[in-house]
Amino acid sequence: MIVFLNGQFLPKEEARISPDDRAFLFADGAYEVVRAYRGHLFCAAEHWNRFRDSLRALRIPYPAGVDFSGIANELLKRNQLVDAEATVYLQVSRGAAPRRHAFPAGEVAPTVYGFAAPFTNPAEKWAQGVKVLTLPDQRWARCDIKSVSLLPNVLANQQAQEAGAHEALLIRDGFATEGSLSNFGAIFAGVLHTAPRNNYILPGISRQVALSLCSALGIPVREQPVAEADLKNAAEAMLFGTTNEIMPVVQINDQPVGDGRPGPLTRQLQQAFRESVEEGRRRG
Ligand SMILES: Cc1ncc(COP(=O)(O)O)c(C=O)c1O
Repeated sequence: MIVFLNGQFLPKEEARISPDDRAFLFADGAYEVVRAYRGHLFCAAEHWNRFRDSLRALRIPYPAGVDFSGIANELLKRNQLVDAEATVYLQVSRGAAPRRHAFPAGEVAPTVYGFAAPFTNPAEKWAQGVKVLTLPDQRWARCDIKSVSLLPNVLANQQAQEAGAHEALLIRDGFATEGSLSNFGAIFAGVLHTAPRNNYILPGISRQVALSLCSALGIPVREQPVAEADLKNAAEAMLFGTTNEIMPVVQINDQPVGDGRPGPLTRQLQQAFRESVEEGRRRG
C-alpha cells in the first residue's frame, strides 16, 4: 500500500511518524474521509471546505501548498483503485513537538497523512436495513469539528457492534443527535426530522446531500432533533454518511421502525442519492 506522508508518496512500511506527533499524544488533529466511486471523489469540494473549517476551529495552520484532491487522486492511482470502490482518508495534525499542552512555540509543520483503501458496498444492509442501539452521547460540545479525538465514538460504536447493531444512536438531553459515524433522520407524517446543524452534530456532507434531495423530491424537512421518547413513533428512520450513504434503520433497540422494513421515502432517497453519485461521475 502506498500512503502519503508530508509531501511524499511511499510504501506504508516506510512511513515514519514521530512519537512526539501531537495526534499521537493529544489526538490534536482533524481528518476527512471521502468516498471514491470508480475514481470519482464524491463531493470533494464540500469535504475540503469542512476540512478547512475543522482546522480553523482547532487553530491548526492549513498546510501550505497542499492540494487534497490531487493527493487523493494520486493515492487512488498508485493503489490501483481508480476503477474500484474506495475511500480516501486524509489527516492533518498540529505536528511533532515536545509534549506540552499548549501549542508548540514557533513554527511547527503540520503532519499530513493520507491513504486510500478498497471499499465494499454494504449492499445487503442497504437492501434490508439495519439496527441501531441508543446510547448516551458522551462527546464534547464541539461535535461540529471533525477531530481525530474519537474515543466516545469508538466506545459507542463498539458497544453497538457488541449488541449486534450496525450503529449507535447517540442521545443528548433526551434527543437523538447523530450516530457514532453518521447523521440520523426519521420520518414522521411524511416529514424528515433531523438534528439541526449546531455544535452537537457533525455537519455531514451526506446529510446535506440528503436534504437537497428532499427538497428536489418535495419531501418536507424539519431540522429539529427527534426526542428519544418519539423514536418508537417514527414511520421510517435512516442514517446518512459517506460510507452508509442513505442507510435504512429498521430497528431501534428492540423496537421495529414502522413495519420493520425500509420505508418508501428512505427508498426514494437511496435511489436519488445513487443518481446524484452517477451525475457527479458524469460531470467528472
Ligand atoms: C460523528 C459523525 N457524524 C456524521 C458523519 C457523516 O458525515 P459525512 O456524511 O460527511 O460522512 C460522520 C462521518 O464520519 C461522523 O463521524
